[in-house]
Amino acid sequence: MSAYLIAANRLRIVKIENVKQETPKVKSFTFKDKLCSKAKPGQFMMVWIPDVDEVPMSLSGISPHACSICVKKVGEATKALHQRKTGDYIGIRGPFGNGFRIAEEKVIVVGGGTGMSSLMPLVESLVKENAKVTFLLGAKTKNELLFRDGMQAVLSKIKSRFEVATEDGSYGSKGLVTDLAEKYLANEKFDMIYTCGPEPMMHRMLLLSERFQTPLQASLERLMRCAIGICGTCVIGKFRVCKDGPVFTGEQLSEVKEEFGHFKRAFNGRKVKL
Ligand SMILES: Cc1cc2nc3c(=O)[nH]c(=O)nc-3n(C[C@H](O)[C@H](O)[C@H](O)COP(=O)(O)OP(=O)(O)OC[C@H]3O[C@@H](n4cnc5c(N)ncnc54)[C@H](O)[C@@H]3O)c2cc1C
Ligand code: FES
Repeated sequence: MSAYLIAANRLRIVKIENVKQETPKVKSFTFKDKLCSKAKPGQFMMVWIPDVDEVPMSLSGISPHACSICVKKVGEATKALHQRKTGDYIGIRGPFGNGFRIAEEKVIVVGGGTGMSSLMPLVESLVKENAKVTFLLGAKTKNELLFRDGMQAVLSKIKSRFEVATEDGSYGSKGLVTDLAEKYLANEKFDMIYTCGPEPMMHRMLLLSERFQTPLQASLERLMRCAIGICGTCVIGKFRVCKDGPVFTGEQLSEVKEEFGHFKRAFNGRKVKL
């Protein structure tokens, strides 16, 4: 194990500095940690909620002063985390994983759900590189649009485009964000597609990247335990998401086509339909 991984894997106890309700089911938690403040966009950490569980979370904010995670309440651990208040303590390990490769070119970014967490620091880096960014944000309904205003504010610093699609048409155009992406890709050439969100959305983006011959980077989610490549819980085909990802290229995802977009694994290793 590298010296970096030994240091990152050490459990640190950090104080929650701030809690913000982002949407009815999503809260952001801010904390200070030296290692996380040097994380790359797309890296993740393990969050330990004492007496409950330890779960993977992307870093949604990375700065020398404070870092943050953005948590959707879906089950036991995330429900317990939502009950934590400013001044409470959590345990963290990380940051882990590879993160996104930053392209200094014309890029299209397609995000949905809590996938927006890892896309926020990505776009901040793209803005620093003065990339030409088209950002497409999708959600089922207006209430579930995450980081809409924050993302627009970051993008306003450069020449960029920002569009929203909701499935019920309550904000932006009505329909799937991938339909919006298809229109852009059919009319213009992009140097890179970045995507993070529900797996069916990312799977569709992979098919579009193949059709329009545009390179892709997608950030995946799988169950995780060790987060350092030992236990095999996060396996997808020949890859371990914690160590080889969580960001994968289109070429890598084509090598695990039987699983990506179709199956995930339960804690007992059995394949479960997505
Ligand atoms: C690299 C990575 C980054 C992540 N980033 C975020 C983030 O920024 N914000 C966020 O809200 N969530 C994120 N997740 C998902 C998060 O880890 C799970 O939602 C969480 O572990 C659920 O725990 P629970 O005990 O609340 O729910 P459980 O009761 O354990 O599960 C509830 C449901 O979520 C599914 N689930 C549980 N864990 C995962 C997982 N690791 N990946 C995919 N599905 C899962 C279960 O199969 C079940 O359907 C990330 C996952 C990974 C692997
Ligand atoms: S979580 Fe243990 S190998 Fe990835």
